[in-house]
Amino acid sequence: MAKSDPTNTWLSGDAQGETYVATADVIIVERRRTTKLLLDLFRYHFGDRQQGRHILDLGCGDGAITEQMRHCQPDNVYHLLDGSAAMLDKARQRLPGETIHFIQQTFEAYLDRAPEDAKYDGIFSSNAIHHLDFFDKGRMYAKVYRELKIGGLFVNIDVVRPTSERSEQWQFQMWVDWIDETLCRNGMGNEVGTYVQLPAQYERKPENKPSGLFDQLELLHKMGFRDVDCFYKYGIFAVFGGVK
Ligand SMILES: C[S@@+](CC[C@H](N)C(=O)[O-])C[C@H]1O[C@@H](n2cnc3c(N)ncnc32)[C@H](O)[C@@H]1O
Repeated sequence: MAKSDPTNTWLSGDAQGETYVATADVIIVERRRTTKLLLDLFRYHFGDRQQGRHILDLGCGDGAITEQMRHCQPDNVYHLLDGSAAMLDKARQRLPGETIHFIQQTFEAYLDRAPEDAKYDGIFSSNAIHHLDFFDKGRMYAKVYRELKIGGLFVNIDVVRPTSERSEQWQFQMWVDWIDETLCRNGMGNEVGTYVQLPAQYERKPENKPSGLFDQLELLHKMGFRDVDCFYKYGIFAVFGGVK
């Protein structure tokens, strides 16, 4: 049985949720664009007007991404899984309704549970799966594959590990530059430079276990996914996935 990572502060209840929710649009590179791309990919695949599709959000946080998907596709059924009780509570408050199901469970517990074959039409995740190491990412993608129906879509928005230290330096600088540009664009120029330490903090935290993009694309391909691709990338922030 896989144990949750004791260093994972999301699961230990440390209060990083509030900060994340308050700053996500500023510290997560192109968060609005990647969310739009996720919604677009689901629309290209399933059509403009979806009904009764079962969609799983892995590591849903406060439910902000599912909320946007539900706004576009109100007739689907949404399942939101997160290991943090505090984040799931926020999601519950944000998303009332009968076609929303909340699952408080760690990824590790989810991986240990027997798969429910062909349960979901679509599965997505945003900035969460990098908390699993490469081995458990493999288990996660295998489980996602089992739980998708044939023709089901999987999209992962996540941070990925650069291919070299040099490339990582550039991409960390791209991250900080993007944040500063965004602050200026949004009338917060006085905060420029506030997040200069963010990449180093991210790298230092053992709960962050980003894996290489190519390795993950290969993993998905080997699991049996087709149309596997990276649909967008800006520095370490990527959108990738495939179809069962
Ligand atoms: C950075 S937040 C992203 C939240 C949301 N997906 C979004 O994009 O706004 C990461 C989320 O993953 C959840 N998470 C982290 N590690 C997890 C684990 N091992 N099992 C389940 N959930 C986990 C956290 O509780 C948190 O809500």
